[in-house]
Amino acid sequence: MKATAMAHTNIALIKYWGKRDETLFLPMNSSLSITLDKFYTTTTVEFCTHLYEDVFILNGSLTNEAETQKVTRFLNIVRKMSGKELFAIVKSNNKVPTAAGFASSASGYAALAAASTKAIGLDIDNRTLSKIARLGSGSACRSIYGGFVEWQKGEEEDGSDSFAKPIIAHDSWDISILSVLITANQKKVLSREGMKRVVETSPFYSSWPIEAEKDLIIAKKAIQERDFDELGRVTEANALKMHATTLGANPPFLYWQSATIDVIQKVQELRSIGLHAYFTIDAGPNVKIICLPQDEQAVKESLHSLPAIRDVYSSRIGPGVQLLA
Ligand code: PMV
Repeated sequence: MKATAMAHTNIALIKYWGKRDETLFLPMNSSLSITLDKFYTTTTVEFCTHLYEDVFILNGSLTNEAETQKVTRFLNIVRKMSGKELFAIVKSNNKVPTAAGFASSASGYAALAAASTKAIGLDIDNRTLSKIARLGSGSACRSIYGGFVEWQKGEEEDGSDSFAKPIIAHDSWDISILSVLITANQKKVLSREGMKRVVETSPFYSSWPIEAEKDLIIAKKAIQERDFDELGRVTEANALKMHATTLGANPPFLYWQSATIDVIQKVQELRSIGLHAYFTIDAGPNVKIICLPQDEQAVKESLHSLPAIRDVYSSRIGPGVQLLA
């Protein structure tokens, strides 16, 4: 009753921002991401008869009660599906610079979903796995697949049609993704809390799902046609629209720091000299840049000239979840 799985993180080009159902993690809009090859989580789950509670070891250390409870809440779903009442030892290792403020919940829950379902003896396909991972963290449902992935929001109240699906294979378009580290500090408004606040209070939110669906159509067409600049333009526009909703919230909030704007302006400047680079920003101050592989070195070098930049991590498009044992 033991299994190990590995899942990679993903970066949304068209953002998931806002839930229509908080318990089932059902989104207001469909989203689109790319899975990264460099950042991943490896998780081993072993269900044992002699345990009286779940044990969660993260990067070699026993976690606190709050972290363990999150895992227990997730394993309860898997236990219920299998009809088995066993507790588990969960060992997770993140090859994600979590201390650097890059989220690991997507790779974490995707790996946990794959390892725990396999360990408990459930035989399920990737679509079902995507729906299960979604119940840990929305964006995790996209990390089941590699490459360019769409999470279709679905219409059903029970979430049965809200899952991710690949758009093109992970090795069919080579793109470079730079994760720009500005600060490693814990963000003040977590994504879960931020999206809830904009849905409930921001007067700008009502146009978000409409705009996101339009942007998704443009992004999917650009991917099919391998039109990098069109994809980049819609990626940037979508990120800016997401962040605009936070300015109208009550109380208002902004994820950016001054260095975030420095990076935005640097990317715009690079484009004016002919480089193919576009930014996106999630629920925090750090910036991700997508660029053509031939421009990666020049983009990286120009970022190092900005004093507030602490580090830049390069990735390429990565694979979907894998069972290792
Ligand atoms: O799934 P969560 O709770 O990590 O939320 C992710 C929200 C964004 O990163 C801002 C957007 C996205 O689609 O990943």
